[in-house]
Amino acid sequence: MYLCLEIRTLLVNPYTSEGSKKQQVIRMFDNISGTYDFLNSLLSLGIDRYWRKKTLASISFNPQDELKILDIASGTGALAIQAAKAFNHANVIATDVSEKMLEIGRQKVLKHQLQDRILCQFADAEQLPFPENKFDVISAAFGVRNFENLNKGITEMHRVIKPGGQIVILEFSRPRVFPIKQLFQIYFKFILPLIGRLLSKDERAYNYLFESVQQFPDFERFTAILEASGFKNCSYKPLTFGICSIYIGYK
Ligand SMILES: C[S@@+](CC[C@H](N)C(=O)[O-])C[C@H]1O[C@@H](n2cnc3c(N)ncnc32)[C@H](O)[C@@H]1O
Repeated sequence: MYLCLEIRTLLVNPYTSEGSKKQQVIRMFDNISGTYDFLNSLLSLGIDRYWRKKTLASISFNPQDELKILDIASGTGALAIQAAKAFNHANVIATDVSEKMLEIGRQKVLKHQLQDRILCQFADAEQLPFPENKFDVISAAFGVRNFENLNKGITEMHRVIKPGGQIVILEFSRPRVFPIKQLFQIYFKFILPLIGRLLSKDERAYNYLFESVQQFPDFERFTAILEASGFKNCSYKPLTFGICSIYIGYK
């Protein structure tokens, strides 16, 4: 019952309430791919890089380990690239459903000369083209909120991760403390969509960002979803007054 409620709440779509969320999400990220990295840094004042760094620091494996890492909803590869640098013997598969985001990711991988260790591959998180028990670590930054069916995506992560493997998920959450809660609400609801609309090629993308964050089951609710999907020792760590959180779990 609890899970059904949570899954339903993810049905906020980028453009119209009818039709597939996935197709709309793909269209939206294809549209904004060219400005995505720039706007990320601008709108977060560069803190997004620190959030990803903290996410990778939550991985309990040794930086020298020969890990197989799957970065889900990798977009333009920001987390995948930081992961390959932090774990310099790891091989990373960076997956996404937006070909245009992936293409920018591929160019960045070449620029960082990481093409031997990062593969950017089209894959739907809700239907992963990988066998069971393949990966040591699965990461996802600002991705799970966009899934059409959150439960399916988390179940797929659980299927393809090895026993003993770890997931690290970074996602926006809603600050609960005064006055950050109020300031964040004003910034996310009014200022961010305005800048987003002016600088990206998409009218709706940054309104969708606000709406999807409002609908996402954050903090203990998402931790409970991870546990219900079979992950053990799940926990969450709020970052920057709870603007986003790192969620951790083990198989
Ligand atoms: C906000 S971006 C995050 C990109 C990157 N992880 C980062 O930290 O900047 C969300 C990404 O999730 C992808 N995405 C949404 N639904 C997906 C799905 N079902 N499977 C794979 N990727 C998905 C989108 O195409 C988009 O590139």
